[in-house]
Amino acid sequence: MAMPLLPDRPGGGNVLPRLAGTSRSDIVAWKDAGMAILEVRNLRARYTVSGPEILKGISFNVEADDFFAIIGPSGAGKSTLIRCINRLVEPTAGEILFFDREITKLPRRELRLLRRDIGMIFQEFNLIDRMSVMDNVLSGRLGYTGTLRSLFRLFPREDIQRALELLDRVGLIDHVDKRADALSGGQRQRVGIARALMQDPKLLLVDEPTSALDPKISREVMALIKQMANEFKVPCLCNIHDVQLAMEFCNKTIGLQDGIKMFDGPTETMNKGNLEKIYAMEVL
Ligand SMILES: Nc1ncnc2c1ncn2[C@@H]1O[C@H](COP(=O)(O)OP(=O)(O)OP(=O)(O)O)[C@@H](O)[C@H]1O
Ligand SMILES: [Mg+2]
Repeated sequence: MAMPLLPDRPGGGNVLPRLAGTSRSDIVAWKDAGMAILEVRNLRARYTVSGPEILKGISFNVEADDFFAIIGPSGAGKSTLIRCINRLVEPTAGEILFFDREITKLPRRELRLLRRDIGMIFQEFNLIDRMSVMDNVLSGRLGYTGTLRSLFRLFPREDIQRALELLDRVGLIDHVDKRADALSGGQRQRVGIARALMQDPKLLLVDEPTSALDPKISREVMALIKQMANEFKVPCLCNIHDVQLAMEFCNKTIGLQDGIKMFDGPTETMNKGNLEKIYAMEVL
């Protein structure tokens, strides 16, 4: 069942209907003004007061068109960094400006609204296995629908329409009624991508989306995330082990080593010397 896409809308391109309070036009306005969507300034994080500092003063900017790779050895702080951005980990110092608004001290209610604007795609997909593909995708609207309505599956018709369109876009329209655990790894990650887009995000945080997948499927999943990010005009920060995939798909790269930024720039300018610094070893 192929769902028709909506016709082009002025200024919005060929996009799905707008559901949230803030809009894609915010991203366009920020882009036209040459402003960063996300500014991270001197970010520091540690998990316990007496424990080691994990992020040691990280700064970078994400602009509207950016698809960032965050690379670095295991334990460098890549996941900690992206979790600080939606405050799953609380930074100990520094600032994070999202659409020019400082978010490290937002109170709980506003944090909930912020999280609605930031989609996440996870390494282990984080689907609810016993639920259908459709319900997993609809759960991306939880931040909007409220728990009670979603418990009774009272999703507005436009949410259902949007979920179907997204499932069509990620190639799963024939699987909407299947249980999530009946899908392959690559298909499960496609559900994860559709779920993240369902919340109409203004920023996508992606943590090792391909680590659980074989090389061919990994490439397909990265291509899909990139295509969707482009199409929905969502800037993206993507943790990734595989430098080859980073070089293939990401226009910019941040290289972390032991909580310190060793590289930040266009991926095409990254050279062997940069990689040696990031991985603290000789790269063949
Ligand atoms: N919940 C936690 N409590 C305490 N320490 C943690 C916690 N999560 C991560 N760490 C520590 O923080 C450091 C950075 O971990 P993080 O997961 O951010 O690294 P990473 O670069 O994402 O690594 P990987 O490539 O293995 O995913 C590691 O030393 C890790 O042990
Ligand atoms: Mg990690």
